[in-house]
Amino acid sequence: MNKEIFVELKNVRKVFGEVVALDNVNFSVRKGEIRGLLGENGAGKSTLMNILYGLYRPDKGQIFIEGKEVKIRSPFDSIKLGIGMVHQVSTLVPEFTAVENIILGTPEDKLTLPLRKESNRIEKMAEELGFEFPLNVKVRELPAGIKQKIEIVRALYRGAKLLILDEPTTSLVESEFQQLLKSLKMLVKKGVTVIFITHKIREVMEACDSVTVLRRGKVQGTLERKEMSKESLVKLMFMEKEIKVNESALPKVELPEVEKSKEPVCIIKNIEVEASEKTPGLKNVSFEVHGGEIFGIASVSGNGEKELAEAMIKPSILKSGDIIINGESIKGLPTLNVFSKGVFYTPEDRIKEGILPDGSIKENVLLGHHAEERFLKRNIFIDWEEVRKASEMVVKDYNVFTPNVEIAIRKLSGGNIQKVIIGRAFVNPIDFLVTHNPTSGLDISTVEFIFEKLVEIRNKGGAILWINEDLDELMILSDRIGVIHKGELKGIFNRDEFDKYKIGLLMIGG
Ligand SMILES: Nc1ncnc2c1ncn2[C@@H]1O[C@H](COP(=O)(O)OP(=O)(O)OP(=O)(O)O)[C@@H](O)[C@H]1O
Ligand SMILES: [Mg+2]
Repeated sequence: MNKEIFVELKNVRKVFGEVVALDNVNFSVRKGEIRGLLGENGAGKSTLMNILYGLYRPDKGQIFIEGKEVKIRSPFDSIKLGIGMVHQVSTLVPEFTAVENIILGTPEDKLTLPLRKESNRIEKMAEELGFEFPLNVKVRELPAGIKQKIEIVRALYRGAKLLILDEPTTSLVESEFQQLLKSLKMLVKKGVTVIFITHKIREVMEACDSVTVLRRGKVQGTLERKEMSKESLVKLMFMEKEIKVNESALPKVELPEVEKSKEPVCIIKNIEVEASEKTPGLKNVSFEVHGGEIFGIASVSGNGEKELAEAMIKPSILKSGDIIINGESIKGLPTLNVFSKGVFYTPEDRIKEGILPDGSIKENVLLGHHAEERFLKRNIFIDWEEVRKASEMVVKDYNVFTPNVEIAIRKLSGGNIQKVIIGRAFVNPIDFLVTHNPTSGLDISTVEFIFEKLVEIRNKGGAILWINEDLDELMILSDRIGVIHKGELKGIFNRDEFDKYKIGLLMIGG
């Protein structure tokens, strides 16, 4: 391996208010390697890379590229230095096509180049990486996995020699992860250096040549491939924290026998959602979810699972068919009325759909609960003291890393925002929960906590429709799994029939 250092950060410190996000961090990466940057939620991974990318200025510290000290004041500087970053949350302009997004903001004078020619070049770059995406469709409607590919191509188009991927697998399923891995290996062969941010040990073991572990803003250590093991990584990541290590580095949860309700809580009857260029929609999908049951939906992202989640709370998108909850059809109802039928929902894209970014943690916890007696004084005034108590409970139970509950929620790390939103949904007893990728982007101890919550709801007789990108997780916790491919329900498996190979095969249309 080429031992030459491509980038080096020295003694970097960054403080946000009372939070020391980075404390004297030293970090260097060799040319042409895939370096993992591992740590739990709030460890400082994004902050460190945002500094390298010029989005944040460090309070202290230096950056060297190929041995030369550089000042990076904005992404414009870093792009010129050959640094590209794909963020945790998509930064594409929704109203623009892939081609427009990729060419947009390119430092050189590319905008004067013939669009057709650049289109061809982009298509070829994508092809070489094994990526497939529509070039001329507005990216607004594209699934997260596709948007990410567009962002990677954009970084390379801008001439990135170092590609930073911030939690790239959050919205990918296993097969897409393997595909991404292949593409990264191809890039590395061409001399590109990759920094791969994740909090999943398994991904580091599969993808990285070396790994640096951050914890609470400090570097815990850097391991070479041959030194990596589940145990060594878990230790660095969590240190004194008690953590259960098991075979797959996934939480273990008991799923006791409980009696299912006689009548289904939710009946989905021959539902259809219009297909379009970007999605297969849904074709004649039918199944039932009973009380006391976790019904998992497995699919490769972009196969209609997004539409299924949407239809559950916005039944007006149904072209035909019906959804019946507790004996009543919700067909045509506006979302608010669906919620009042006792459906709880946690969306996939929490940043976009789930929060008031400028609101405090407290205000965000109250969201959707504001009409509940428990949070009201004399039936009309918000009882902020109660809200504060509930918020502090969420912060404590879900291990949200924040100085207090008054802080604007947008200031939290991505993972910590998710914890607040999940915690908010579980503030009250739940009868029917529809949840889309509730654990994505969370560290293992929080995933475990959410698993326990789901099981608790189920054991108390609640029904759960769990649309999830991670098949391993689904297999741990579901009573049944339905597989969706190209908008069709391809099969339903009972727990005693779970077989990763068979389910995986159906997911890819086999
Ligand atoms: N703009 C900001 N304002 C205030 N605090 C911030 C800001 N950005 C990050 N922080 C805080 O700095 C710490 C590190 O956050 P960072 O986003 O770097 O973590 P992370 O390792 O990327 O976590 P995650 O896995 O959840 O994305 C967190 O406590 C976070 O709340
Ligand atoms: Mg982050």
